[in-house]
Amino acid sequence: MTRPATRPAPGEDRSPGRYRSDSIDLAPHPGAVALARLHVRRTLGVWDLGELEADASQVTSEIVANAIEAHHHEHLNAPVRLTLLAGLRTLLIAVRDASTAMPVPAQPGPDLESGRGLLTVSALAAQWDAKPLAGGGKTVRALLRGSRRA
Ligand SMILES: Nc1ncnc2c1ncn2[C@@H]1O[C@H](COP(=O)(O)OP(=O)(O)OP(=O)(O)O)[C@@H](O)[C@H]1O
Ligand SMILES: [Mg+2]
Repeated sequence: MTRPATRPAPGEDRSPGRYRSDSIDLAPHPGAVALARLHVRRTLGVWDLGELEADASQVTSEIVANAIEAHHHEHLNAPVRLTLLAGLRTLLIAVRDASTAMPVPAQPGPDLESGRGLLTVSALAAQWDAKPLAGGGKTVRALLRGSRRA
C-alpha cells in the first residue's frame, strides 16, 4: 500500500542534499512583518539554524517592512514573496516585491531619523543586494553566515 502524498510542513527538509529552501507569500499589509518573523523562527528551528534566528528575524523584518511599504505607496495588491535558502551554516533571505523603486540606503549619522532599516541589514548581513526582475519588481537578498563549524 502506498502512503498518500502529503505536503511538507513549512521548512521541512525532504531533500537529501545540503540545501534547504522554503517560500511563503505574504499579503501586503502590516501584519506581514510579524508573520514573516514567525515563519523565520519556525523554519530555522526545523533546519537547526537557531544560531541565526535573531539576526535573520531582524533582517527579514526590515526587508519585508520595506517591501510592504513600497506596495502600500504604489497601491500594489500583489503578495510579497519571502524565500529562505539555507546551506549548512548560511542563510540567504530573499524578498521579492512588485515595486519598481529600488532600495536607497541612508548615510549613517547621529541625526538619522529614518533610514535605519538597510543600515541594520548592512550591519548584520555578510552581504546584501537588490536585483531588478525582468517582468518588473525586484528581489532584495541578504546573506547571513553562522559561526559554528560545519
Ligand atoms: N523594497 C523596496 N522597494 C522600494 N523602495 C525601497 C525598498 N526598500 C527600501 N527602499 C527605499 O530605500 C529607503 C531606505 O530604506 P530603509 O529601510 O533604510 O529606511 P526606511 O524604510 O525609510 O526607514 P526605517 O527602515 O528606519 O523605518 C526607503 O525609504 C525607500 O525609499
Ligand atoms: Mg525600512
